[in-house]
Amino acid sequence: MRIIRKNPERKSFLPDEEADLTRIESLIKKYASKKGSMIPILQGVQEVFGYIPKSSIHMISSETGMSESDIFGVITFYSQFRLYPVGKHIIKVCHGTACHVQNADGITTALMNELGVEDGKTTDDRLFTLESVACLGCCSLAPVMMIDGETYGKLSGEKVVKIVREIKKNDNI
Ligand code: FES
Repeated sequence: MRIIRKNPERKSFLPDEEADLTRIESLIKKYASKKGSMIPILQGVQEVFGYIPKSSIHMISSETGMSESDIFGVITFYSQFRLYPVGKHIIKVCHGTACHVQNADGITTALMNELGVEDGKTTDDRLFTLESVACLGCCSLAPVMMIDGETYGKLSGEKVVKIVREIKKNDNI
């Protein structure tokens, strides 16, 4: 079974200069003085950038008084938070038990070959992020993947290649 939520080899951060922190100033000021506000702050930052840039952690720390290491601890504790930029389309391939026995590894391998990206990473053109996840809750359709919230079931290597090519075509790529 393959479940990779955090890839330690992943380059976790973009260079700081790529994140425009003025976009989160009002959000942080709104919550800074409220107790127990770290989760909504981090959710807001991720909503703005798609992930939590390193430079934003420094800013949150200065505004809230919480240490950077404690903030980092919160981020890494909750799987909803990302420390890396993601692609326009997020492909989640289920590697839960039912999907695993129906060759989920083959699905991930077909996507890795088609997109030229490793599991857990984002394509150079930032179009796709490929992830392995736990059960998506529709085991009768195994093997299953979800792209941008839409579920695809009864997959094969050929089918997933067709699906991502169709998405690229719709994006005019
Ligand atoms: S194991 Fe894949 S959807 Fe449940």
